[in-house]
Amino acid sequence: MKILVTGAAGFIGMHLCKALVALNHQVVGIDNLSSITYESSLKISRLRNLGLNIDSHIAQSLSSDQALTCNNFTFYRMDLTDDVGIGRLIENGEFEVIVNLAALAGVRLSTAIPEQYLASNVNGFFNVLNAIKNLYVNNNKIKPRLLFASSSSVYGDCTKVPFSEDNTDLNQVSVYAATKKMDETLAYTYASLFKIDTIGLRFFTVYGPYGRPDMAPFIFTKRIIEGKELHIFNEGKQRRDYTYVDDIIKGILSIINSPSIHDHAAVPFDVFNIGNSDPVELFDFVKAIEKVTNIKANIVLEPKQLGDVDQTYADVSKLQKYFNFKPETKLEDGLKEFYKWYQDYYRN
Ligand SMILES: NC(=O)c1ccc[n+]([C@@H]2O[C@H](COP(=O)([O-])OP(=O)(O)OC[C@H]3O[C@@H](n4cnc5c(N)ncnc54)[C@H](O)[C@@H]3O)[C@@H](O)[C@H]2O)c1
Repeated sequence: MKILVTGAAGFIGMHLCKALVALNHQVVGIDNLSSITYESSLKISRLRNLGLNIDSHIAQSLSSDQALTCNNFTFYRMDLTDDVGIGRLIENGEFEVIVNLAALAGVRLSTAIPEQYLASNVNGFFNVLNAIKNLYVNNNKIKPRLLFASSSSVYGDCTKVPFSEDNTDLNQVSVYAATKKMDETLAYTYASLFKIDTIGLRFFTVYGPYGRPDMAPFIFTKRIIEGKELHIFNEGKQRRDYTYVDDIIKGILSIINSPSIHDHAAVPFDVFNIGNSDPVELFDFVKAIEKVTNIKANIVLEPKQLGDVDQTYADVSKLQKYFNFKPETKLEDGLKEFYKWYQDYYRN
């Protein structure tokens, strides 16, 4: 299949592109390589891990129509807010599947720079939707299926656990979460109006090799290794459903490899949770990192942060029912893989 992955230099994007190329799909990846949420050097390393001959100098000089290629993977440095570029790429690309992962991720920063979150996550995603719509209304030969990243954060302060896709009474408590809910609403409307075959993926706290430096698994490991104080918010009472990246990728692949199925044939739209369905308290999470690194953490308790939710807990029965898949990786096993990568990456 020919597949477009946006956010290809991102954490999940790189793992997905790698898995798709290994399965002999033809993959086109785009990313703007920005350093808004964390350093772009890691994004460039991920592209090198995909086989591209790229460094920061080459990355900076790339224009949006200049392709870098290795085997079945082609990369363009492109921004989702470039509606003309995105329109042209999708119109001419003959993609059977489009996976939209590009977004500004992270809850806390979204309060500081909400305009940028709206631009990438809502307007940028809308450009992708609109370009796909044109293929559907013009009755093109190939009408791509759309998979897009939503987030467990759309469940907001929901107290009914585990979080189920059936629960529609949700209040988002961060700008980031609101942008992801807006994406779901826009995608539903377009699926309803233009019959675009669409699936939203609500990921739950993803961790693993090449993981994001702005997320707890990375920050905690780094501070523990460096012997620095570990600031634990909300007195460590938060629970998170940490999900190993390979499970996210297996989940996406099981959807791509299955025929399209939807709850309501009239609107070809569904959302699915992909999470470990085994939430862990923050203190236990720190203990797991201590065990893997064999270093004791120096914990400092802090109050709850704006936009943080108390818990995330995925009900994955819908994913199991439709695609016969459920994440299986145990936290300690996943953290070992993450730590192995972390040591290698920083040694080099
Ligand atoms: N990692 C998680 O725990 C998690 C949880 C829930 C949802 N998600 C969602 O999954 C997706 C992938 O997340 P990730 O963890 O890989 O994050 P990431 O930040 O590593 O990857 C996102 C990529 O998108 C790119 N990007 C951002 N704005 C762009 C734009 N306007 N144009 C082009 N590229 C742009 C970034 O440069 C980055 O490389 C995101 O949509 C995120 O919101 C992630």
